[in-house]
Amino acid sequence: MSSRRALCLLASVIGLFMPVLLFAGQAGGFQATGIKISEPTATSVTIWTRLTRDEQRAPDDRPLPKLKVFDRNSGKELPLRDNGEYPGARVEIAFPAGSDLGSIRGAAVGAAGQVRVRYRVASGAMTWTESPWRAVDERADFTATFALASLQPGTRYEIVVEGRRVEAAPTTSVVSGGFVTAPAPGAAGSVSFCVMTCQQYEDRDRPDGFAIYPAMLGLRPDFFVNTGDAVYYDHGPVHALTVGLARYHWARMFSFSTLVDFHRQVGSYFMKDDHDTLTDDCHPDFSTGEFSFAEGVRTYREQTAPPNPAYRTIRWGRHLQIWMVEGREYRSTREQDSTHAPTIWGGEQIAWFERTMTESDATFRVLITPTPMVGPDRDAKDDNYANAGYGAEGERLRTFLAAQKNVLVITGDRHWQYVSVDPETKVEEWSVGAASDAHAGGWSENQPRAMHRFLRINHGGFLSGAVSATSDGASLRLRLHDTTGNVVFESTKTAAK
Ligand SMILES: [Fe+2]
Repeated sequence: MSSRRALCLLASVIGLFMPVLLFAGQAGGFQATGIKISEPTATSVTIWTRLTRDEQRAPDDRPLPKLKVFDRNSGKELPLRDNGEYPGARVEIAFPAGSDLGSIRGAAVGAAGQVRVRYRVASGAMTWTESPWRAVDERADFTATFALASLQPGTRYEIVVEGRRVEAAPTTSVVSGGFVTAPAPGAAGSVSFCVMTCQQYEDRDRPDGFAIYPAMLGLRPDFFVNTGDAVYYDHGPVHALTVGLARYHWARMFSFSTLVDFHRQVGSYFMKDDHDTLTDDCHPDFSTGEFSFAEGVRTYREQTAPPNPAYRTIRWGRHLQIWMVEGREYRSTREQDSTHAPTIWGGEQIAWFERTMTESDATFRVLITPTPMVGPDRDAKDDNYANAGYGAEGERLRTFLAAQKNVLVITGDRHWQYVSVDPETKVEEWSVGAASDAHAGGWSENQPRAMHRFLRINHGGFLSGAVSATSDGASLRLRLHDTTGNVVFESTKTAAK
């Protein structure tokens, strides 16, 4: 073939594919990572969304990059291992030929564009309230949040979140869903909720995510709490050693259809723990590779829209108030621990907790914590109030809790389910267990100890709660479920007026 003919052929091949290339260049306006309905109260909620370049996450047959870390001083390559921490190490990411952070397995890279939210009372109002179109924040992984206020308490709302590529362009993606607001503080209606923890990407039990999401959705909870470890930055073949890789962890997890489908229909509270902040048992002075603790906190905020400060209490009607505490940001540093009494919550949070719980007149008061207050936990562990290192602060808080009426603790973090009662203070704690059977473990004693009321060590699951008014007060039914929703243990508390 003459070089001229070859050029002509090349030109016609390019011409043939030009529309595709142009289309690819214009891609975006999708919401492959779904929406999150964050922090519902009686009158407000925050809607989170993120625009993506592609309509779907990258398929599972796509390759993964190879990561290498090097000691900054010696230049020596460090071996990568799960739960590893690589302070200040230099990171090299080798992408397979033709792939990048947007096309590797499970990726759903962000893209510029505009979004808006429309909402109305479900099955009632004829007209929608709609926000103006707004650009997603390119510096915050192409996310946007909308604070909806002046909502009606105890009411179900429908929402529609729309995306488009540029101003005045046609709508490219539509995510519809709904949520309920909390009943007013004096209202005695029933309330139901689910709590889960610890979902590791490699331990998922369905190709499209986790079985517990449809199982929880089947219970139609009014709200949902994720107590932390929503992603595991320091596990699997691609550790989050840069902000870009951390965002990849969030995108590949929250683009699974089981999660997308759940989060568009249930109001959620997100709490962070160690693995979705930075690394195993991390403190504020930790860093790993080119990813710092401060960047970990910022990335968590960017991806879940929690309130500021992250500790909060929410009233769900006359009979229920929940407290969700922050266990990483106010923790003392490793350096401080050598000279001061170590703290997990920090003084301000402890004062806030004791004040707000003392002031509360809710019938049942539930503390939801990322890490245990009671345990028992393994002797080798030392990052929570059930461990010796934080024993003094733990004892103070357990003693405070024991002096309150109708208080319960629900904990995440531990990868086995238990119900236990502290022998000294009688504080009761429910551990919700890992998100999948493959992720369960960590406790080797098959037989319950005296403080256990229930113990289930090799299977995952979640917790559900239901508060109802009774003729002379209220009841709180707590259930532990397996990953498909079957009840494995339950107990009902009652409280007279
Ligand atoms: Fe965990």
